[in-house]
Amino acid sequence: MRVRGVLSFLFLSSTTYATVTTYGLPGQEPFDLGTATASGAVATYSGSAAYDPTVLNAPAPPAPPGPTNFPIQLLSSGTTGMSIPLSGNFLGFSIEFSVVNQVLGKNSTFINVPFLNLMSSLASRGGRVQIRVGGNTQETATLVPSLPDGKALEKDHSATSNPTATPPLLFTPEIIYMMGNISNFVNVEWYIGIPLNDSTNLRLGIADLSQAVLGDRLIGMQVGNEPDLYVRHEHRPATYGPADYDGEFSAVATALAADTNIKRNNILIGPNIATGDWTPEMVWDTGFMTKHPELSMVSVEHYPTDNCFAQFGVGTPRDPQATFPTYLNHTSGQSIVAPYLNTANLAQQAGKPLIMFETNTASCGGFPGISDSFGAGLWALDYGLQMAYSNFSAALLHVGGQDVYYNPFTPPPTNQSTFRQWTIGPVFYSSLIVAEALGSSNKSQVLDLNPNAGNIMTPAYAIYEGGAPVRVAMFNYITDPSGASDYTASIAIGGGQTGQPGATPAQIKVKHFSASSVSQKANFTWAGQTYGDNFQSDGRLEGTETIETVTCDQTNNVCNVLVKAPGFALAFLTDAALQSSGGTADAATTFSTTARTKTHNTATVPPEVLATSNGHGGEFRQLGSTSKGKGSVSGASGFARLAPGVVALASVIAGAAVVGRAFV
Ligand SMILES: *[C@@H]1O[C@H](CO)[C@@H](O)[C@H](O)[C@H]1NC(C)=O
Ligand SMILES: *[C@@H]1O[C@H](CO)[C@@H](O)[C@H](O)[C@H]1NC(C)=O
Ligand SMILES: *[C@@H]1O[C@H](CO)[C@@H](O)[C@H](O)[C@H]1NC(C)=O
Ligand SMILES: *[C@@H]1O[C@H](CO)[C@@H](O)[C@H](O)[C@H]1NC(C)=O
Ligand SMILES: *[C@@H]1O[C@H](CO)[C@@H](O)[C@H](O)[C@H]1NC(C)=O
Ligand SMILES: *[C@@H]1O[C@H](CO)[C@@H](O)[C@H](O)[C@H]1NC(C)=O
Ligand SMILES: *[C@@H]1O[C@H](CO)[C@@H](O)[C@H](O)[C@H]1NC(C)=O
Ligand SMILES: *[C@@H]1O[C@H](CO)[C@@H](O)[C@H](O)[C@H]1NC(C)=O
Repeated sequence: MRVRGVLSFLFLSSTTYATVTTYGLPGQEPFDLGTATASGAVATYSGSAAYDPTVLNAPAPPAPPGPTNFPIQLLSSGTTGMSIPLSGNFLGFSIEFSVVNQVLGKNSTFINVPFLNLMSSLASRGGRVQIRVGGNTQETATLVPSLPDGKALEKDHSATSNPTATPPLLFTPEIIYMMGNISNFVNVEWYIGIPLNDSTNLRLGIADLSQAVLGDRLIGMQVGNEPDLYVRHEHRPATYGPADYDGEFSAVATALAADTNIKRNNILIGPNIATGDWTPEMVWDTGFMTKHPELSMVSVEHYPTDNCFAQFGVGTPRDPQATFPTYLNHTSGQSIVAPYLNTANLAQQAGKPLIMFETNTASCGGFPGISDSFGAGLWALDYGLQMAYSNFSAALLHVGGQDVYYNPFTPPPTNQSTFRQWTIGPVFYSSLIVAEALGSSNKSQVLDLNPNAGNIMTPAYAIYEGGAPVRVAMFNYITDPSGASDYTASIAIGGGQTGQPGATPAQIKVKHFSASSVSQKANFTWAGQTYGDNFQSDGRLEGTETIETVTCDQTNNVCNVLVKAPGFALAFLTDAALQSSGGTADAATTFSTTARTKTHNTATVPPEVLATSNGHGGEFRQLGSTSKGKGSVSGASGFARLAPGVVALASVIAGAAVVGRAFV
């Protein structure tokens, strides 16, 4: 096993699951992935988890097969049991503090353009994006005016007094300015974390600066991270319990109230427990939920299982192949959410949103072949919609470094970014699709339909706005290339046994999330478009968008939608519902690809093309891919295609960024 640095704690229990953040990962240092050549082969496997080539076997289709045709009967009004109204930014991201300079950019004047493109695609669908910067590494992070080497973030290897020998992070204001600049380009809202490693010597610098720089784009400040694991981590004495955390929360609230730089001291988030050593109820028993006027949102963090044994030799060994089926049915998301249903109800009574602040397929980096598979994409989509149905208000998928399998998106290793590009994981597609499923109205309500007699391989949800059904999300977890496990859902609105007049439209629009198998590792398509394979993405969907038009049978009051095995389909029941989710062509603002000094890697595009491009056309890409040796045009031919007066776009340099806005 490779040396992977220091564990933040020893993972001991096989019955509780918790997050482990690793430090000193190769992905957090400049390192060379391998040999890149001008002729291609850029995706040569390097050994980093993020590019692990393990492909598992898809589970066999159930025997005997289930029904391949079943009804989905919806009411045109009067439905009960739906979730609270939700927004299209529901499935956001949690970015580990220690990798923020890899994912977002180097500093306020060097923002990663693929990251902007990814966020822009989400914002165009769901209205806005929410991102938490934090994690275990927030706890010891310290704001310093500057660092000697000019970097915005680095590990303080000189300070090894920490019991786990975790190098604390030092960061400069540039990190917060970078977040602010990102929000100038795309509608991204932020959560930050107030360090709580020492509640008697609070370091509130990040709160002061974030409020000043981010303004109302700062939507919450987390107080401590996973306090229920503090004892295990040896960060608190063994007697530390929920009442002690409650007291520390009060101390932070008091200190913020006394801090004249803090304009908003009532945007605090707690208790942020891992649901490892404490249950949520243990915290609610202290009165925490209702006693603090500064508490604006309630949060928990959880991963359904862990892969710590394979990664670090601690905990319970888990075989990815044997574990794979536990992600591939509707019970999975339901069982993760079940321990929080009471909390969701209490939070609703208290008028506080409940957030799943950090989650993903498995702690300790996820599983090879699971976390990076199409199956994980279906799983995160179902789990996300299940949280929505269960009255969570948001959920944040965790982003680690190069050494995790579960990243929604992985930037290329540090200094390779002029010729290696981003790797987009399956769960990013889940976030994109949840954004479309909920759309931008802020009033989407989700209902778990359990169609097909509750068959766990074929779940479905309906999304309502103003009481009327507007979208239907349908899953098929089965892999069966024969086609025998494809199913047809017959969607009916009103009519028949419901006692309502039939309200089935003449036609509906359907987008499909597709791959050949749940075990497929890349090249997934959403409405025909893809982020490709490892190292292939600049954050824009590629290919032609394909939206199926299904002609309904209004006489029999049904719209028949075919859902492949495996696959997922999102049916838009009205044109307005499609428009609210971003429309037929992607209206995302797109950003030019980072240009450095080398002309062969310089993306160039005429401003007028940027101004009208939908950001998805192959044409735009041909103008200047940065992927050397991957079918990109040479600098010379790229330039030759351009009209006089074109601009070569730099990376997003302060004040010099060029942004194309396409309004379709
Ligand atoms: C940001 O990073 C870039 C690339 O490393 C560097 O050239 C630039 O000077 C940095 N800007 C600031 C403000 O630190
Ligand atoms: C908390 O973290 C800071 C910054 O890393 C460190 O200087 C300090 O010693 C830590 N305090 C405790 C009690 O661990
Ligand atoms: C479905 O998922 C649950 C929860 O992960 C798991 O316990 C169960 O074994 C799975 N069922 C099948 C048929 O794979
Ligand atoms: C979510 O909240 C709504 C509104 O209070 C309620 O009707 C519904 O039953 C809740 N859903 C769940 C799964 O508890
Ligand atoms: C990347 O950085 C490493 C370490 O600083 C260096 O050895 C290597 O030459 C760099 N590679 C490129 C392509 O710049
Ligand atoms: C949705 O809510 C956000 C945040 O409050 C707001 O900025 C946006 O305008 C709302 N959208 C609609 C369509 O009301
Ligand atoms: C993705 O598609 C490319 C181009 O068709 C192909 O070369 C590659 O093998 C595919 N990757 C996977 C993991 O299917
Ligand atoms: C980025 O942040 C810096 C520091 O706040 C600021 O001077 C600059 O104008 C910002 N650039 C953009 C493009 O917003």
